[in-house]
Amino acid sequence: MTQPRHFLDIDQIDDATLRGILDSAKARKSSRAGQGRGEPDEDRPLAGKVLAMVFIQPSTRTRVSFDVGMRQLGGETIVLNSDDLQLDRGESMADTARVLSRYVDAIMLRTKSHTMLNELVEHATVPVINGLTDSSHPCQLMADVMTLEEHRGPSRSQIVAWSGDGNNVATSWIHGAARFGYELRLACPQALSPSDGAVAWARQQGATIIVTESTEEAVSGADCIVSDAWVSMHDDQKSDRHNMLAPYQVNDGLMAKAKSDAVFMHCLPAHRGEEVTAAVIDGPRSLVWDEAENRLHAQKGILTWCLE
Ligand code: CP
Ligand code: NVA
Repeated sequence: MTQPRHFLDIDQIDDATLRGILDSAKARKSSRAGQGRGEPDEDRPLAGKVLAMVFIQPSTRTRVSFDVGMRQLGGETIVLNSDDLQLDRGESMADTARVLSRYVDAIMLRTKSHTMLNELVEHATVPVINGLTDSSHPCQLMADVMTLEEHRGPSRSQIVAWSGDGNNVATSWIHGAARFGYELRLACPQALSPSDGAVAWARQQGATIIVTESTEEAVSGADCIVSDAWVSMHDDQKSDRHNMLAPYQVNDGLMAKAKSDAVFMHCLPAHRGEEVTAAVIDGPRSLVWDEAENRLHAQKGILTWCLE
């Protein structure tokens, strides 16, 4: 039996495939640009296909962009929150995977446990898509690179600075540095430094990755500054995270140390006054709404690659 095409992590998919997914996302975005929202789609490559979306953790963008993307491609979705399933009553993810694979054509999972994603993949016989775990957020990275390139040109010539927690989204940016060729500088407190394994892998692939505690070192000459929530869904609320991360806030002062036309990105949801000020995220250099829109276009590239 041929193996399903899973979309699990950027480090597990080769450069050409990832570039192909982005190319198809860009092509579909531009071909729909002149089309009204209510107009019927002629481009329906996923007609007759059903995507199950399993949410152990909440979501706005991932949920809606996969749902709308699937519909625009002619397919359908079933949204399954954790309390809709028997998981909460002790049924294993392995059994859930076996059963869902008999009904649907692909499964998207959002969970705070990467181990749970691996269990799903091990037992599913249809493609599985990582919709965020405690370890990574590869779908977000695809939308982020798409957005960066729309505004700044080819990713190979960009310097991206991350300021804050070295979290799941940071790991996908690290993987992306190896696959898409941008230089990545991560400014994080020592206690919240990014995954050593991801950094070592990316460097071994030839990526330029700088890990520092100095925001100034990271953002000096950067094309783009990225931040994310100080407390992720999988984190226990701890006030010392706020104390540790306060110096990493992206504000006008930090933006002024990057290139004069540098842009700001954030996967959302954002916490104004914490990881970013309102002046930056709501200001002219913020790409966050284009970034959120591109989740839709990137999902369509991912879905067609997994399912066509
Ligand atoms: N950026 C992102 O994944 O948003 P949601 O948590 O709303 O899906
Ligand atoms: N790092 C954040 C990203 C949310 C999309 C979290 O995991 O909660």
